[in-house]
Amino acid sequence: MSVFKADILVLGSGVAGLSIAIKSATALPQKRIIVATKANESESNTKYAQGGIAAVWDKLDSFQDHIDDTMVAGDHLNKPEIVKMVVEEAPACMKRLIEWGTDFDHNTEGEIDLGMEGGHSANRILHFKDITGFEVEKTLLEQVDKLPNIEILPYHFAIDLITDHHLGKKIDSSDISCYGAYILNQKTNKIETFLASSVILATGGIGQVYAATTNPVIATGDGIAMAYRAKARIIDMEFVQFHPTALYQPGVSPSFLISEAVRGFGAYLRNKAGTRFMLDIDERAELAPRDVVSRAINKELIFSGDPHVYLDCSHLDMTEFKKHFPNIYDKCKNLGIDPSFQMIPVVPAAHYLMGGIEVDENGYSSIGNLFACGECSRTGLHGANRLASNSLLEALVFGHKIAEEIIQNRSDLKFTFEDIIPEWDEEGTMVPKENVLISHNRKTIQNIMSDLVSIVRSDERLEKALDHLNYLFQDTEKAYEKSKLSPQICELRNLNAIAYLIVNQSIKRRDNKGAFYSLDNL
Ligand code: FAD
Ligand code: SIN
Repeated sequence: MSVFKADILVLGSGVAGLSIAIKSATALPQKRIIVATKANESESNTKYAQGGIAAVWDKLDSFQDHIDDTMVAGDHLNKPEIVKMVVEEAPACMKRLIEWGTDFDHNTEGEIDLGMEGGHSANRILHFKDITGFEVEKTLLEQVDKLPNIEILPYHFAIDLITDHHLGKKIDSSDISCYGAYILNQKTNKIETFLASSVILATGGIGQVYAATTNPVIATGDGIAMAYRAKARIIDMEFVQFHPTALYQPGVSPSFLISEAVRGFGAYLRNKAGTRFMLDIDERAELAPRDVVSRAINKELIFSGDPHVYLDCSHLDMTEFKKHFPNIYDKCKNLGIDPSFQMIPVVPAAHYLMGGIEVDENGYSSIGNLFACGECSRTGLHGANRLASNSLLEALVFGHKIAEEIIQNRSDLKFTFEDIIPEWDEEGTMVPKENVLISHNRKTIQNIMSDLVSIVRSDERLEKALDHLNYLFQDTEKAYEKSKLSPQICELRNLNAIAYLIVNQSIKRRDNKGAFYSLDNL
């Protein structure tokens, strides 16, 4: 039996998971911290973040303005005390990142260069060119390398949380505790038992539940689905953010993002006729919050029947543009689009989930010993729609809070249950003869969600989606029961659960708020 014990078990190696591991390992050098992650250690949504991280840095900016912008973008469904806490902690988090080695761009006066994005009333985005996430992920992994009490286990796919349910205890959902996770070691193909007194889900987003998304293939909502099966409280799943400007490239998935910072730099959205349609929609025009811009593009596309709108950068200073957005510029040039005189075709794509595993101000979920951090969590910061560049920030602030909580109140916890945790039972399971059945169901879920549960919803579309998903659920569960587990079948099962949660919670929402918009609530 392969049983591994740690003091802290972190699932996921994006900004949320790594920042918790680094802070805890530094303060608790005698404690063992395991970070299990399903792909190579850098693969994550974090790595692809472009625009940057929001924080009040300029003397002329204020906490109150960042708070107000966050609440307005979130359609006031945010938790005000959480918004205040995150905004006030932001500058300290940025200083910590800089101490850890993150390089942010500087202006000619030697000050940190602050970018602008939609919904912000001031320049407050710290960034590294248009590859901020890559820089942050690299820095965090370099710090992890220096800490001998952190073990990173790449290609370790978490299948399910270990809770009282696995100990055969029948327990009320308000009293359930988590003791670790069953994890598929993808190198040996064995399912191993990992036990820890503190378990953290930092498994990221859900973009892959949609056919068109900016999220990489790892973003299949595994942590939220695991927590849901373990009976944690999962809320606000109806609030999915669609980024207005993903590059239009039919058949290419994930979609390449054209950062909102490009609009912050002055780019215009135009339809095929060349009209700047955002001017008629919102006084903030291209820099209105994302839900407003995505809905406006959606309306344009429905009216015109065109497959995309355009982002026009031709009036911008191209020398500065290339300096700020080298990655985006190169991508366009490689596709034969020269932004200095050609418009970039763009469409909205699923980008971010505001909902997820409900946590309190210290990152505790509704299950004992279980924290959630980053995109898989629902802290109350974003309300019904996230303000641009508040996501990396949320993960860093809550990562800090969770590490503090563990250091101060949980570092002396001991295991008492090691003899009674059962091994994963694989008896009677077989290697599926044809994987096409799994990939077909995955594509079907993605198409159902993109066609029926997208920027604009209706009761009829949601009911139809639910019918389809119910059928897929039965089919997937049958396959899961008899299959030797693989990441593919587990991801399919998780995507099915995520799609169900989004549809079910959408059906229950009877008012249009932020990113949620139904024709039947008008
Ligand atoms: P992730 O970074 O996604 O990490 C999740 C980790 O969990 C990964 O390592 C993954 O492999 C692992 N994992 C998942 N499932 C399992 C499993 N079953 N077992 C083991 N491991 C698992 N936000 C901003 O604030 N600013 C930006 O500029 C910005 N730009 C973005 C651009 C793009 C293209 C995208 C996609 C997102 C962007 N975001 C941005 C959003 C932001 O990047 C994410 O919300 C944030 O990085 C999430 O961090 P995380 O640590 O929660 O999750
Ligand atoms: C972007 O660069 O447009 C993404 C920023 C974000 O998701 O916050």
